[in-house]
This record gives sequence, structure tokens and C-alpha cells, in this order.
Amino acid sequence: MKSSEIRESFIAFFESKAHKRVKSAPVLPIGDKSLLFTNAGMNQFKSIFLNTEQPKDLRVVNSQKCIRVSGKHNDLEEVGRDGFHHTFFEMLGNWSFGDYYKKEAIQWSWELFTEVWKLDKHKLWVTVFEEDDEAYEIWKECTDIDPSRIIRSGAKDNFWEMAETGPCGPCSEIHYYVGDNPSNQNANMVNHSSEYWELWNLVFIQYNRLKDGSMEELPKKHVDTGAGLERLCSVLQQKNSNYQTDLFSEIISEIESISQTSYNDHEVSYNVLCDHIRMLTFSIADGIIPSNDGRGYVVRRVLRRASKFAMNLGVKDPILYQLVQALVTVMSSHYPEIKEKQQYIEQTILNEEKSFLRTLEKGVLQFEKIISESNKTIIDGIDAFKLYDTYGFPLDLTQLMAEERQMKVDID
Ligand code: GLY
Repeated sequence: MKSSEIRESFIAFFESKAHKRVKSAPVLPIGDKSLLFTNAGMNQFKSIFLNTEQPKDLRVVNSQKCIRVSGKHNDLEEVGRDGFHHTFFEMLGNWSFGDYYKKEAIQWSWELFTEVWKLDKHKLWVTVFEEDDEAYEIWKECTDIDPSRIIRSGAKDNFWEMAETGPCGPCSEIHYYVGDNPSNQNANMVNHSSEYWELWNLVFIQYNRLKDGSMEELPKKHVDTGAGLERLCSVLQQKNSNYQTDLFSEIISEIESISQTSYNDHEVSYNVLCDHIRMLTFSIADGIIPSNDGRGYVVRRVLRRASKFAMNLGVKDPILYQLVQALVTVMSSHYPEIKEKQQYIEQTILNEEKSFLRTLEKGVLQFEKIISESNKTIIDGIDAFKLYDTYGFPLDLTQLMAEERQMKVDID
């Protein structure tokens, strides 16, 4: 199945369970100061959970554009190093607003995975919050999962919160073993090994976290689920990495053709470029442009990071803006905004690339000078500041380059 078919089959499955299909919210959260970017499908429903808005429909389903690059959920550091973390990703989700609860959410997730998509039950694992006996019993009694594959675990992995404050609750996650040796699966490795991918998180929203850290019970109980489309594509298309799925293949071909290099020789740089161009395109389409503070600075940092990785491929001219077309080809049927605003997105990226490329090469030379002058393992704060102030290197870029040389930056 292609990514577009997988997305559609998720949505259609829940439509058949009386859910209303709704649009993705923008990645720029509307009226919510607790978030820089939309980081989960449930963000747009926050006021329904908090009971300050009444839902038009009690069951909804969608594919939500999400960005996890700041705040409570931040995956930036992982991007490129593995094949399954992203700054931008699509989260497939189904919601119940005070309607069905744990039983249906669990049964339907199992039905979709094992009966519709026919995922191998002998590779699936389920985690539940250690205090949630109800979820444990439902998995055991209402599905045909082997009970030895149901694991209880603590709040770190099984209590979901959207931000420092806001709706939250215990969750139950479905993981999939992607390793080569199914007979070596081990319950203790779930959540602790890159051979086990979390595919779907079923959150049972029942509390509101307040500023003082305490939780108040919500008037109704809700279901909020999130399944990463990219990982699902990887598993259903039998690939080892999200970047090998059709979501990324057009972008990879374009980078290969522009840079005259091959993916296999530069996997990390390609992955970073593929990931970052999606974050940039969707941010700019939704009205966040590169700037010196707040959300705009996150976009600027991501763009500059991408430029540095393009330089690793020997590309000296602007390249990122040229990748937007590939993304439009793959994703605009579901997200028409990127086609409608394509020219504006390309121009915004091109202007920003040009301005950074004017100092990038000089900055890299300055960086080399700094590290050759010292035989230390730490880059001084004053040098990191100069790279930022004079050459436009965001601190995380300097840290990344330092790490490539087994060095650190003196953050204090
Ligand atoms: N709200 C569910 C999740 O983000 O995993």
C-alpha cells in the first residue's frame, strides 16, 4: 500500500465506526500559548477535553500535521541518526469526546492492525500504565493478544501529557518488533531498543494538569489516539527505515540528482534534508516564517541545520527550495495548501538559504580555526557566541558540529 492509501484506509476504517472525518489543524497552534507548534492530533480538541467548548461530533478521525522540535516533545536531536524520528510527521488519530472509552479504542486498534492491515501478532507488543488494571484486562479479555505480550510500565512511557499543562491521562501503546530475529524478542526491550517501534498510542484523557503540577479530574472521559503515518508506512511497506518509504523517495531522488551523490553514501545527511524540508514547507505554508525569535527562530534554526547538511554533500548553492516540488508531488493531494502556496514557500526558503550561505562557508572556516587552535575537548562559550553573532550559527548547529569532532560546547 502507498502512503496515501494507508492514510486513507485509517480514516475510512474509523468512518465505518461512525467517526466524522475532519481536517488537520495548522502546525501553528491557534489560540494556545502553551505550544510553539502543533505537536499532537489532540491539540485542536483541547477546549473540548477541558469542557469549555461543546463538540459538533462525538467521534472524529483525521491525519494531523505535527511538529516536535521544541518544548515537552522534541525529537530534533534524533533526526537523521535513526530511520524513525522526525521534526515533522503525520499523526493518524481517532477521538472520542465523552463517548466510547477504553474498550472500543483498544478493540478497534487491534482490529485495524491485525485484521485489516494483517500485522503479525507475534511481533506486536502492548504496554499499559502500571496502575491501569482496566486497560490491562480489556487487552487480555477483549482481544486475542497473547497475554505475555502485555507489559505494564510507569508514567514515563505510559502517562501522556500534551505540554506542561493541559489534558492528560494514562495511555496504552502498541509496539512492533522490526528486528531480523523474531525468536529473540524480549519484553524487557520494549521501549528500550530501536528494534521495537512504538506505532500507536491510545491515550485515555481524564485529567487536566494545572500550573502548580497538580491534576484535576475532567468532567468526562475521552479517547485520544496517535499513530505515526511514517512508521506505519515503513512497517506495512516492509522497509527498515521511514526514509525508504514512498513518502520520501521523490525527495531523495531529487537530492541525488542535484548533488550528484547517492543516498547510500550519505544516509544521515539525506535523512536530515528529507525531514527538514517537510518541517520547513509545512511551517511556512501555515504562516510561520524564519525570524529571530519564537517559532520563526525554530524554523530558521532548522533551515540552517539543513543547509549545513547540504554542504556535507558538497552542495554550495541553494538546494532546499528545489526540494519543495517533490514534496508537493507526494503530499499535496491530502494537504492542498502546499501546492497553493508553493511559489511563496520556495521563495521564502530561497531567500533564507541565500542569506545563510553568505556566511556559512566563512563560519565553517572560523569553526575549524577555533578547534585547531585549541587541543581542548570543549568549545568556549565566547567562541560559540561569535559563531552565532557573526556567522549566524544557531547554538545547536555549533553543538552538532562539535559533536562530529567528539567535542562539546561550554553551555554554562
Ligand atoms: N496524543 C497522543 C500522542 O501524541 O501520542
